[in-house]
Amino acid sequence: MSEAALSVRDLVVEYPVRGERTWRRGRHRAVDGVSFEVARGEFVALVGESGSGKSSIANAVMGLAPVVGGSIRIGSDELTGQPLRRARRLRRTAQLVMQDPYQALDPHMTLEQIVAEPLQVHRLVTGKAARAEAVRHALARVGLDTSDEFLSRLPRDLSGGQRQRVCVAAALIVEPQLIIADEPVSMLDVSVRAGILRLLDEQRAQGRSIMMITHDLITALAFCDRVMVLERGRIVEQGPASRIGSAPRHPYTRSLLDASPRMRGAEFEAAIEG
Ligand SMILES: Nc1ncnc2c1ncn2[C@@H]1O[C@H](COP(=O)(O)OP(=O)(O)OP(=O)(O)O)[C@@H](O)[C@H]1O
Ligand SMILES: [Mg+2]
Repeated sequence: MSEAALSVRDLVVEYPVRGERTWRRGRHRAVDGVSFEVARGEFVALVGESGSGKSSIANAVMGLAPVVGGSIRIGSDELTGQPLRRARRLRRTAQLVMQDPYQALDPHMTLEQIVAEPLQVHRLVTGKAARAEAVRHALARVGLDTSDEFLSRLPRDLSGGQRQRVCVAAALIVEPQLIIADEPVSMLDVSVRAGILRLLDEQRAQGRSIMMITHDLITALAFCDRVMVLERGRIVEQGPASRIGSAPRHPYTRSLLDASPRMRGAEFEAAIEG
């Protein structure tokens, strides 16, 4: 029996695609036999270039990508092969912060409705006042305004960075054991990036498990315990951040390190000092 918050074994994700010269439908293998674990209270990063399959792995865990092989367990519960309803219930303790806050947020819903939605889905809070209170608390945790005026805004009234923080707030509101954050800081200014990353780190300090997806190896090394490097649907290297940063073994990891901008001064220092 595994103690891991998340265990993924030999995961294969394939998307149906139309063949170029034939009418037959082919398949595109985006994740090709990936295995890893995220321990309880661990902050890990899944790093790789665009198209390497990072979001496909995150979405597969949440039941949002076509899994054609392998096994996914949250705690000791196997998700693959379960009826949809049961799988949804087993995923209750996991939350995904989606990559694209423009797509993730329903343009017709107010912030209050958006942030409260996970509570509704899992039937966790009843009553208007309790709901508004929970929303305010979640917004405050990500450093957003908690006024009535702000709660009644629509996504289009927010900046990209605010939307991303709204997505994080909506994930935190259910106090998940496992948080999968897909590029949670890609759209944020450097000045607010460290704040969100520290927020995730605080969640870890409270015993939650975090899997952060990023194409930025330097940020991953600064904030995470362990780093997994994904290349074309396969994990080519994984290990403690300290070791990956100082002695990367795989040529692809080395090329990612070389491609990263050298220490972005303030952000990196802020990260290290916490
Ligand atoms: N819904 C889909 N249908 C078909 N192909 C898809 C779909 N989603 C992703 N893919 C393909 O699967 C591969 C992996 O995509 P994925 O989005 O997982 O990569 P990623 O590492 O998250 O990239 P990025 O850093 O750009 O977000 C890519 O080749 C992509 O084109
Ligand atoms: Mg992605």
